Amino acid sequence: MASSRAARRHHNPLRDERDKRLPRIAGPCSMVIFGVTGDLARRKLMPAIYDLANRGLLPTGFALVGFARREWADEDFAQVVHDAVRAHSRTPFREDVWHELAKGFRFVQGTFDDDDAFDRLSATLTALDEERGTDGNHAFYLSIPPDSFPVVCDQLKRSELAQPRDGRWRRVVIEKPFGHDLASARKLNAVVNSVFPEQSVFRIDHYLGKETVQNILALRFANQLFDPVWSAHYIDHVQITMAEDIGLGGRAGYYDGIGAARDVIQNHLLQLLALVAMEEPVSFAPAELQAEKIKVLSATRNILPLEENSARGQYGPGWQGNESVCGLLDEEGFAKDSTTETYAAIALEVDTRRWAGVPFYLRTGKRLGRRVTEIALVFKRAPHLPFDSTMTAELGQNALVIRVQPDEGVTLRFGSKVPGSSMEVRDVNMDFSYGEAFTESSPEAYERLILDVLLGEPSLFPVNDEVELSWEILDPVLRAWAKKGRPETYESGTWGPASADEMLSRTGRSWRRP
Ligand code: BG6
Repeated sequence: MASSRAARRHHNPLRDERDKRLPRIAGPCSMVIFGVTGDLARRKLMPAIYDLANRGLLPTGFALVGFARREWADEDFAQVVHDAVRAHSRTPFREDVWHELAKGFRFVQGTFDDDDAFDRLSATLTALDEERGTDGNHAFYLSIPPDSFPVVCDQLKRSELAQPRDGRWRRVVIEKPFGHDLASARKLNAVVNSVFPEQSVFRIDHYLGKETVQNILALRFANQLFDPVWSAHYIDHVQITMAEDIGLGGRAGYYDGIGAARDVIQNHLLQLLALVAMEEPVSFAPAELQAEKIKVLSATRNILPLEENSARGQYGPGWQGNESVCGLLDEEGFAKDSTTETYAAIALEVDTRRWAGVPFYLRTGKRLGRRVTEIALVFKRAPHLPFDSTMTAELGQNALVIRVQPDEGVTLRFGSKVPGSSMEVRDVNMDFSYGEAFTESSPEAYERLILDVLLGEPSLFPVNDEVELSWEILDPVLRAWAKKGRPETYESGTWGPASADEMLSRTGRSWRRP
């Protein structure tokens, strides 16, 4: 038995002899970006591509092709990338790296319904295969609104760009929102899958590219310390917070009508829940990891009644630091009677033996007190305290806090004796901080994810089942909210609407003030 297990392990194709600590460099390929004039391309994608080149992780001959309506020549496109890289790249600018990378820039002018433009794109890619040795391997990054996915996918099919030949690959990268509810997500997926098989579809949830998010798996599965307490036996509840201090000026086109729950709970926060609550995967092979996430998401339900276990709000005027800021309704581009929520909180439970009875509270908001994303596992109180009650008046609940950003790290909060002659006990923090523990700096999420697309490594990309299960969780909440009319207004710079506080205080709990 032991020897057959050893034999199986020996034959496991996932185990190769390579030292996995060494970085992998992508093979010959190109990336085409649709929506190249957009904010995401400028702030994240172009800088990440430069940073990858600077780290030596792109193949020689890598090509970047921009596709957009503008009347640009290749040089104009190169200038746009240059400015974006100068403004937003993480690593220092190096002329030699830039010079080599820029040789592979091409621009194709056209609209999505223009057959000729896609024929020109096809010809450009064929020429790059010859000139730069991109070898027929092409990734198509759809940084465009989802209602344009069908036409672009159809064009890629028509111009035979979606079909790989002779062992080469074609991949499509899609950005959220993956639909606006379960039904539309299914439709969208059917469109994408009618052109690209599921294993060629890479859905970006950039939270999964963050170091601190990947560290959840290391914390849980590389240590013996935490596992025994990682369950309903010891944990009272879990709070997942993604708070932002910025407002929505300039983002009305995307955000109005979408709102906080669709924008980040459906994807980022439910993915964080999945990583915190899932069981240990058999290995980190993509299918094993996905299977565990799917299992936990299918066991996740809303705590009822929804009216008491969810909250939504919209920011009104207020103060952000020293600056007076306007409310959402006065932000440029938002309808004066917009009912879009900028704050959302929901309460979930995970119906498994490990988590029975433990609420998971998820909240997110714009224009809150400060920018912070964290996952706090809040422990039950000790069953018995052999102290005079005045001695523990200041003692809270133990907590393990995964600080996703900023100030990345982990905090353990526990009680400690206050120095002095009495036995007074108060909360203290024990901190691990990335900045102090490591000399290596963390790559940007998009660096990691773009590299993984080029390598064909799917672990950090949610599969369609995860997307659909997340909509199944959120849909009933969205339906309940739709019936209620306007969200509650909260003052900018505070921690959200009163109903969110009531949602927890009903059970004797309260939100952390990070
Ligand atoms: C995006 C949302 O997915 O994440 C934005 O659409 C949000 O609304 C952003 O501001 C936050 O990302 P990060 O990495 O700064 O936490």
